Amino acid sequence: MIEFSYSTNGEVQNDVEWVLSGVWSGKNLPINKKFSEPFSKLNAAKNFTGEKGDLFSFSLNPHTLVGLLGLGDKTKMKSEDLRRLASKIFKGILSKKFKKVAIDFHSFEISKDVTVTAKILGEAFLLSSYVFDKYKSEKKKTVLPEICFIVKGKAIQNKIEQTLAKVQIVTDGVCFARTIINEPPNILNSLTLASTVEKDIKAATKGSSSVKIKILNKQQIQKERMNLLLSVNKGSAFEPRVVHLTYTPKKKATKHVVLVGKGLTFDSGGYSLKSGTGMMNMKFDMAGAATMYAAFRNAVLLKSPYKITCLLGITDNMISSRATTPDSIIVGRNGKTVEILNTDAEGRLVLGDVLDYGCEQEPDVILDAATLTGACVAALGAEVCGLMGNDQKLMDKLMACAKSENEYVWQLPLIDEHRTDIKSNIADLKNIGSGNAGAQKAAVFLEEFIKKDKGIAWAHFDIAGVGDSQSHLPYCPEKGASGVMIRTLTNYLTH
Ligand code: BES
Ligand code: MG
Ligand code: ZN
Repeated sequence: MIEFSYSTNGEVQNDVEWVLSGVWSGKNLPINKKFSEPFSKLNAAKNFTGEKGDLFSFSLNPHTLVGLLGLGDKTKMKSEDLRRLASKIFKGILSKKFKKVAIDFHSFEISKDVTVTAKILGEAFLLSSYVFDKYKSEKKKTVLPEICFIVKGKAIQNKIEQTLAKVQIVTDGVCFARTIINEPPNILNSLTLASTVEKDIKAATKGSSSVKIKILNKQQIQKERMNLLLSVNKGSAFEPRVVHLTYTPKKKATKHVVLVGKGLTFDSGGYSLKSGTGMMNMKFDMAGAATMYAAFRNAVLLKSPYKITCLLGITDNMISSRATTPDSIIVGRNGKTVEILNTDAEGRLVLGDVLDYGCEQEPDVILDAATLTGACVAALGAEVCGLMGNDQKLMDKLMACAKSENEYVWQLPLIDEHRTDIKSNIADLKNIGSGNAGAQKAAVFLEEFIKKDKGIAWAHFDIAGVGDSQSHLPYCPEKGASGVMIRTLTNYLTH
């Protein structure tokens, strides 16, 4: 855990090994007075122009190094640029194994509101220090340094401290999700995933009575008539689970939000078997569940004003003599019959039943997150999350939340032609469409499970692309689970 500390008198404390100060480019380099004198004496100083990303290091005294970091044109710096830049630099600091570093906070300010800069720097530090090396015999010996913020006065310290406490909650949630997504499928199965979540929420909330936990076992899932979920589970060595968490705020809730996550601990494709390369990494097919759980956890710890229900549909998708075959017809929980033409389109089956169950909890809003389609990745690339739904106001709100967290989402249109395309000749629905627009055809399948007469606003996040390796984001690991979209969802649940 990174420890944050403060120096409120503007001094660089004696035990600081490295102090980082930002410098905007321009005619008169606005270098902090503390560093400008030794800097200007250096011959090479003339080469430093404050160009964005340029790092100029020198000794301040025998025990402290200064890094002047070029920030470029102040009018051009966007919050995401700062987050990425700070992450890159921080990763560099980590490799130097310093015990204590200091940040000249005010030199990085991109807003009059100090909490804006504090949030970005905090996220950069806490998200980019994540490593998953549990299964490496030789661990990288990272020393997480104490980070001392040099700030002007106690009042600013207090504001930054409060901001960082919130950031810590959110990034802990992101990192928890990353870890369970990265866990291999021989360790994380439906039973261990459900119990891991149960243990974690109890620990995180210290057993608070504001959160109720219910975990539905196979018998209870049968009783709930979740036959589509059960059909996906039929080839499995493990029973399915539905995790059902409810958070009730202290004050009367202004809204009830249901979160639904796809929790496929492994997706082999079933009888519509994936290829060797297509199957690789399908442990991450529970990223939707991890995302929704993390968003729930964050919202609870940040004392969201909303009632929130979190539902995770958990199984794997395997083959055995009992596994569901293509051509099977199953009656979903909502009574609709589904012709299963491709057992690899299993996510929508699991979500269909859980969404129907979710609608019965009488929410105002229901959101789902799923690594649902390769087609979404084909349409938007791996860097952009697909967003679909039935209520434009909700879409706009979610896109605004994503924008303020600097996460990429793009809305895809759901049209009647997509809705017709998933009608079956022999049953009410079929679980695959024909031809293109696969992300939307999966979404209109989900829409069939949103109860019509209740006026529930529904939105679906297809995280097939963004859930995994986001190597363009220096605050995400090069490879492996990203945790992208958790910040957006947390923002939605707390505003
Ligand atoms: N879990 C996959 C979606 C996926 C594919 C996520 C690639 C990440 C990367 C999902 O269950 C799936 O297999 N979808 C099929 C649907 C198709 C059979 C209609 C797909 O996208 O190929
Ligand atoms: Mg599949
Ligand atoms: Zn899947």
